[in-house]
This record gives sequence, C-alpha cells and structure tokens, in this order.
Amino acid sequence: MLLSIENIEDTLRSKFGKQVVEHGIKDGVKFLQRWSYLSSQVTRFHGAALARIQIPDIQYLLAEIAYGECGSGNKDKIHSKLLANLIHKSHFACFINQGLDTSFVQLFEETVIELSQMSQDEAIGFIVGLEAPAYQILQLLKQALVIVGISEMDVMMSEYFVIHDAVEKEHQESGHEAMEIIMNSGFDLSKIHKGGDLAINFLIKMIGDA
Ligand SMILES: [Fe+2]
Repeated sequence: MLLSIENIEDTLRSKFGKQVVEHGIKDGVKFLQRWSYLSSQVTRFHGAALARIQIPDIQYLLAEIAYGECGSGNKDKIHSKLLANLIHKSHFACFINQGLDTSFVQLFEETVIELSQMSQDEAIGFIVGLEAPAYQILQLLKQALVIVGISEMDVMMSEYFVIHDAVEKEHQESGHEAMEIIMNSGFDLSKIHKGGDLAINFLIKMIGDA
C-alpha cells in the first residue's frame, strides 16, 4: 500500500469506525467507566511517547498536548475533572465511578510499557493513532452521556464538550505536524503506521464492546 500522512490517519479512522462506531454504544455506564479511566490516565501515554522522542520540535508538540490535557495551567480545568463534573449530573454517577475491571487497568499498564520501549517513529505514530479518532470518540461519548440520562443540551454546553470540540482539532494538527517533521527527518512511514495501528487496537480493546 502507498502510504502518505493523510491516508495513515484515514485508514486508522476507518478501522475505528468499522470496529467501534458502527456498533454504537450498548452500555452507557460501561463506556463511561472505561473512558473516564482513560481520560484520567492518558497523559501517561504522552509521557511514555515523549521519553522516546529525540527531536526537540516533536518533544514540544507532545508536551503541548499533555499540557492541554492537564488543564493548560489551571488544575480545575484538567480534562478528566471536567468529564467527572459532567458525569456527576447522571443518576448513574455512582455506578460509573465504581472501580474499573482489573483487566482494563492491566491492558493500560502493559500498553504504557510497550509504548515506552517503541522506536521514536512508532511512538509518534501511536500518539497520532490515539488522536485520529478523537471526533468519533467525542460523538460516542455524547451518545453514552445521553444514555445515562444527561440531556443533549447539558452535554453540548458542558465545559468538557466546548473545550474538546476546539481542542481535538489542534491535537490532530499537532500529530500531523509531528508526522511532517518525522518525514522530513527521513523516517519510515510504515513504522508510523504500525504505531498508529497499535493505538487503534488498544482503543478497540478498551472501548470497542461497551
Ligand atoms: Fe482531553
């Protein structure tokens, strides 16, 4: 297959679409349990990827994504906290906030270790793969929040959604910019694709059957 930056992202998005989006959400509580866990841990992926990156311009891009997730200098705006505030509006909040099945925790821990041992271009590919389906995930998240009884209006007007609608676009651009820098540095697109595919497989395992 002929690889380009755009078709790596499109391929990853369409795989996620077929395996997750097309099936929709069966259990809103399960989905939100897993996604809030992931949201509270996701910056560890950025940290693990950052540990592999030697190019300062790409270090900058990863740090920028992680800084945004951590609230851009305001602890109250940490994204997982904004999501928790939104989930709090549901009558099922106490079920959603119950501990996650240990197999998902284990999957996350194993993936962080795997990422921290990847090559530089696989690691950046992983982050690109993680960001590629961001809008698809935002739509699934909206569905799940409505299933657990939060009105669509409350969801759309929440700080979490307003910020993410604006921010996911930037994250995707950062990932894209990183790929361009990687390519100009003479790296192998097939390795970027491999890293991205690992991220998509991780997401499918994590939220695919919820
Ligand atoms: Fe976020």
